[in-house]
Amino acid sequence: MKLEQSFMDFMLHHQERHNRSYKFLALMEAIQAAAKYIQYFYQTGSLKNLMGEAGFTNVQGENVMKMDDIADSIVLHYLRRSNQVICAITEEEPDPVVLNEDGGRYFVYYDPLDGSSNIKHNLPVGFMFAIAKRNLDGPEDNHLRKGSELRAAGIYLIPNGVFTLALAETGVFRFHMDETMTYVIPENAERLIMPENPKGWELSFNSSNRRTFAPKVLEWIDEHEPKYAFRYMGALAADFHRLLSNGGMFMYPAIVNHPKPAKNRPKGKLRLLYEANVAAFIAREAGGMAIDEEGNEILDIEPEYVHQRTALYVGSKPLVENIREKLKG
Ligand code: AHG
Ligand code: MN
Ligand code: MN
Repeated sequence: MKLEQSFMDFMLHHQERHNRSYKFLALMEAIQAAAKYIQYFYQTGSLKNLMGEAGFTNVQGENVMKMDDIADSIVLHYLRRSNQVICAITEEEPDPVVLNEDGGRYFVYYDPLDGSSNIKHNLPVGFMFAIAKRNLDGPEDNHLRKGSELRAAGIYLIPNGVFTLALAETGVFRFHMDETMTYVIPENAERLIMPENPKGWELSFNSSNRRTFAPKVLEWIDEHEPKYAFRYMGALAADFHRLLSNGGMFMYPAIVNHPKPAKNRPKGKLRLLYEANVAAFIAREAGGMAIDEEGNEILDIEPEYVHQRTALYVGSKPLVENIREKLKG
């Protein structure tokens, strides 16, 4: 009988190899429990009328879907019960949610359900998270941590049951949900590396926005897009998932030329702490990179507020470096 290695088994041995505490395991168990519950609600939601709008907006003015709300409550519940989290920063709450200020060890940033426009079609969405650790040696604890200080980040693709995890200075690994709802890593699985060979690269961006991008971004697109396949699902979690294996670049540039100026988004659309940083951190651990509209590394941006937005260009290093020249030029 052949048994696959479970995620928890993988993590336990990782922690022991690096002489790390088991507190991180307790946190990951909480995150994984939440992911499984989100998976369950998502899979059965259509039968329970749970795939529509909740009837209110979040602090960012977006219509909240019932599923966004359910997923957020699930994650908060398990993070609270773990006792490991100082505070949680979530897309769905205006302010950081304090969970265990004194005893907690981690800051958790998350988007409980990324790709809300996919919900009513039962198409893939993602639960994206990033984890920073309390500064155990000094007093300057702060929940506004830059991406380069993250210890881990991951994406659960729902309902597909694929979990991608990046661990600092270690790499990116992929787990699959088996029939018992256990996440396992296939035998002989290797670190995920974002391909540097252009063959197979994809570009992913909202093409209907292209006339609203800065002229140099549009010029770059006109010059480069014929060389690559184009794919866009409208959910960073799912679009980035493809790119991680195929290489290329996902971008959500700043919107600066919208015919209705009020609809411009000079800082981009995606949120730094729980969207861009998650993709950027995973990309870095897979050998890729991520930058903003000015060509700065996403992971070096010092966050100033919780729901800060940023333009995002993330993918294979040579391609991101190529557009960086243009952005800086
Ligand atoms: P969310 O559903 O968490 O609000 O995030 C939506 C984001 C992201 O998933 C996606 O990449 C982007 O919005 C899509 O935006 P467009 O619909 O403008 O293409
Ligand atoms: Mn999102
Ligand atoms: Mn979301």
